[in-house]
Amino acid sequence: MKAIVCDRWGEPEEVLQVREVPEPVPGRGEVRVRMIASPINPSDLLMVRGQYGRQPPLPATPGFEGVGIVESGSGLLARRVQGRRVAVLNSGSGNWKEYVVIPARQAVPVPKELSDEQAATFFVNPATALVLTRCILQVPTGAWLLQTAAGSTLGRMIIRLGQHFGFRTLNVVRRREQAEELLRLGGTAAVATNDEPLGERVAALTGGEGVYYAVDAVGGAMGSEVVRALGRGGRLIVYGTLAGEPLSVDPRTLMVGQKRIEGFWLSEWVRAQKPWTMLWLFRQIGKLMRDGILVSDISKSYALADIHAAVRQALQPGRQGKVLLRMSQSNEPEA
Ligand SMILES: NC(=O)c1ccc[n+]([C@@H]2O[C@H](COP(=O)([O-])OP(=O)(O)OC[C@H]3O[C@@H](n4cnc5c(N)ncnc54)[C@H](OP(=O)(O)O)[C@@H]3O)[C@@H](O)[C@H]2O)c1
Repeated sequence: MKAIVCDRWGEPEEVLQVREVPEPVPGRGEVRVRMIASPINPSDLLMVRGQYGRQPPLPATPGFEGVGIVESGSGLLARRVQGRRVAVLNSGSGNWKEYVVIPARQAVPVPKELSDEQAATFFVNPATALVLTRCILQVPTGAWLLQTAAGSTLGRMIIRLGQHFGFRTLNVVRRREQAEELLRLGGTAAVATNDEPLGERVAALTGGEGVYYAVDAVGGAMGSEVVRALGRGGRLIVYGTLAGEPLSVDPRTLMVGQKRIEGFWLSEWVRAQKPWTMLWLFRQIGKLMRDGILVSDISKSYALADIHAAVRQALQPGRQGKVLLRMSQSNEPEA
């Protein structure tokens, strides 16, 4: 079968190759899945560059999520998902290949109404958006939530969650056109940092108090500005490092303002959860995807053989929507 493989960490276009590899065979408690599609997420590219929180051994195949059809497996759980279209949660062997083997509990049946494109992006961003806003920060109705990289796929989900659950979003992006677009999407306010200072805008919107809830995926100068924009007792969750640069924080601001900065990493959060919390999460995601809230814009799909064009497109600044790798067509049997 075909798989995307890297033998060393580095720039994705330089190190990713399409290769023929043996088809994997499931062991006890595992399923073999025929992959349909898998997105190129920022975390996949971080792993390829050798900068992810937990690196697999080399040679490695990227692809933390995706959608496929369970073809075979052994054990009770495997029998329950046999023949079903599932979200493929794969933090080990990578999904950018034609067939994968994963533990049966990581094959999550997806609602029939969802297209393959939406099902391919079922977990990483929807779970992060939902857990950050509803489980960790628990943003109250009417409160402001400030978010950076608000035009990202995940940022757009947070805007729709704000509309759905009644919190206000202050959306920070680089470009004016994107700020306007996010207001049309339903963001309560938007700041384009290329032509507007963030601090002044936050002060104007919050009557000088600052915000109490913030999430940052950028770091560097922008993340540091967010720390300054926090109000007394404010809480910032750092969940991405898009700028690749450190935060610069005056410790006095934290001390006097009683502010908190914390990190969030979905894979660590998942490890700490009980099975019923995960079942609740999968159900919530399915429902909120059907309602159009946790959906992803899709930019373009590529065959595995076109991996270099696909990563070029994924790394394009200002790109609208996710880039998918397409391995096969869905032909789920009728239930
Ligand atoms: N901690 C976790 O467990 C977890 C889980 C899921 C996702 N994430 C993180 O969430 C973030 C968003 O993911 P996604 O899949 O939604 O991303 P995406 O759809 O690929 O969008 C990336 C966005 O980041 C913006 N961006 C890139 N570099 C930037 C910079 N230096 N300064 C400001 N903005 C920048 C881009 O803005 P332009 O349009 O201006 O180019 C684009 O809007 C990523 O950092 C990802 O790693 C973390």
